Amino acid sequence: MAKILITGNKGFLGTRFQRYHGREHQIEGVGREDLDILDSDAVQRKIAAFGPRIVIHGAAVTATAFCEQNPEQAREINVTGALNVAAAARDAGARMVFLSTEQVFNGNDEPGPYSEDHQAVPNTVYGKTKLEAEERLREISQDLLILRLTWLFGLPEFREPVNSNVVWDSIRIAISGRRTKVAVHEYRGVTWVYDLLDRFPALLELPSGTYHVGSENDLNRYDLFRHVFCELGISHRVEELLVPDHKLYRERPRDIRLDTEKILSRGIVFPESTRAISQCLRDFMTAGIALPG
Ligand SMILES: NC(=O)c1ccc[n+]([C@@H]2O[C@H](COP(=O)([O-])OP(=O)(O)OC[C@H]3O[C@@H](n4cnc5c(N)ncnc54)[C@H](OP(=O)(O)O)[C@@H]3O)[C@@H](O)[C@H]2O)c1
Repeated sequence: MAKILITGNKGFLGTRFQRYHGREHQIEGVGREDLDILDSDAVQRKIAAFGPRIVIHGAAVTATAFCEQNPEQAREINVTGALNVAAAARDAGARMVFLSTEQVFNGNDEPGPYSEDHQAVPNTVYGKTKLEAEERLREISQDLLILRLTWLFGLPEFREPVNSNVVWDSIRIAISGRRTKVAVHEYRGVTWVYDLLDRFPALLELPSGTYHVGSENDLNRYDLFRHVFCELGISHRVEELLVPDHKLYRERPRDIRLDTEKILSRGIVFPESTRAISQCLRDFMTAGIALPG
């Protein structure tokens, strides 16, 4: 059993992490109301008092539009907050795990999939703050694991938040009956949050370094949404509800796919994204989510 402190535990990933791994590990989850990561003294006290072996830093401003409109606040939380947590983790002798993103590559001219050796060129405030945090954390953490995640998906669960994602967004379109434009020139990995949670114990044992994590696929966003519709048995509603958006990213396709060969070579395998979507929906329709152990 490992002693793990996770920040951002009221968020999409954090709530599920604590529930899913709370039986096998001793987990202290902290949300914003327990600990503001901008209060460096409080962060030091909290982490020193718990004495974790691993600190997973999930707290961040993740709404990309909010980041664009509030760049200073986004930088403060995504960079300074991360540094506060990393300093406290180092002082407590804990491993620092930083949850980063595929979006560090959203300004690269050349198409993905990108390996960990590829120079990242972010062009949004969210992507830039995450990359800056990565770089500055390397200066202060002796034992640092950077996990760059692809876009996570999952479904709403009781009293747990759900963020915009390929499966839930598709279902909302179907429920609302609102015709919605979906980009044709956008490519990214999408990962079922439970596939990530299953593999988290193995990820936490990787040697220090940067890793690209998640499911891969070669489909564009429109085709992923269409796949969800087909899996829901409503393929006959695709033309009525999903409008292929050929304009968005036409000049420069948005391709932020990650190459996950590095974790694959260490035995950590994710299913391809469409298989993961199918599994997520099957699981939800039948047994629900099973807790381990
Ligand atoms: N979900 C994805 O698709 C995805 C993909 C790649 C990487 N990631 C990374 O994975 C991590 C978790 O993502 P997520 O989807 O779970 O994000 P999320 O749902 O937005 O959760 C982030 C949490 O951080 C908290 N937070 C913000 N400012 C804080 C502060 N000053 N002090 C303490 N807590 C603060 C937020 O609290 P409030 O709600 O009160 O603001 C929120 O509960 C993030 O670092 C994200 O960048 C996520």
